[in-house]
Amino acid sequence: MKAISVGEGYGRVNLIGEHLDYNGGCVLPLQIKNSIICELSESSEINCVSIISDKYQKKLSIEKLEKRNDWADFIIGSCLFFGEKYSIVIKELSFNISSTLPLGIGLSSSAAITVSTLKALNNFYKTNMSGDELIDLAYDIENSFVGVGGGIMDQFVSVLGNHNQALYLNTLSRSYELVNIFDDHNFLIIDSNTERILSSSEFNQKKELCLSAAKKMNLKNLCEKEMINENDIQLLSGEEIKVCRHVVEENKRVKKAVQLLKDNNPKEFGKLMTESHSSLSEHYGVSTDELNTLVNLSNSFGALGSKLTGAGFGGAVVTLVKNDKVEEFKKLILENYNKAKFV
Ligand code: GLA
Repeated sequence: MKAISVGEGYGRVNLIGEHLDYNGGCVLPLQIKNSIICELSESSEINCVSIISDKYQKKLSIEKLEKRNDWADFIIGSCLFFGEKYSIVIKELSFNISSTLPLGIGLSSSAAITVSTLKALNNFYKTNMSGDELIDLAYDIENSFVGVGGGIMDQFVSVLGNHNQALYLNTLSRSYELVNIFDDHNFLIIDSNTERILSSSEFNQKKELCLSAAKKMNLKNLCEKEMINENDIQLLSGEEIKVCRHVVEENKRVKKAVQLLKDNNPKEFGKLMTESHSSLSEHYGVSTDELNTLVNLSNSFGALGSKLTGAGFGGAVVTLVKNDKVEEFKKLILENYNKAKFV
């Protein structure tokens, strides 16, 4: 079957600003070159839709667009929500998914697959969907259909970012700015290669803690807070205090980090990355032993700073290394953590 429409969705690495996009905070992701491609073709032999992926050998014949609780939900959700938005009955379509983006390691493969599918549908049906509409639809599919309640960061950077500029996004106002990254330093991504199941329940639990803390302090979003004071501490549970500490300080770190990027100060930028990681580990509770090991190894082998990227619970680390040190750095990491994979 010849592809008649193609859509591409890019992954991202979040440089700093973790778990802030559902708290009304600021984030600083960078779109990466690894992507997911969705090729659409048409056939009258298919009733509803069929899905095939280079990562999972079996072809899926979907007879009804309904939730299955597996990876195909991103495509099924896209068909349902897109169909509803444009009053189109989706049928007789085959979706061929291929990926250079490692799945499930915190590089936003969920947003990438949804964005690629929606772009392919948009091209095919010539619906002229705008970037903002695409972001919103992809967000709704993940939150209301698939059921992991993240924020807007991943969809936003996949659609509006580029590979050479970090996207400084205020997730509340949705205002954003593209900021050049360092010329002589590289953000390397290291997969810890440990099983990571972004369990929606663990992720959603953290989100719940943030929401309940905000409610107790009479705030709409936790990021409205600049400081946790004694009064707040009286109102909150121990767990709530911990997540608040991360959120409030991380939001400040993002603002400082953007300025350091503009000032071309990789040394101080790196320090903030490592502070972010410590806070994600100690306060937010989403790091693992392997991620902590990789962060420590990276920093001891000359990285200016390192942190887990994305939701955590396993997955990958992002680390800032001077260009002329990259080869030596990679060698040292692989010698000391042989499961590691550079993305
Ligand atoms: C996941 C979510 C994002 C964001 C990150 C943590 O990747 O999809 O929206 O919340 O976790 O920063």
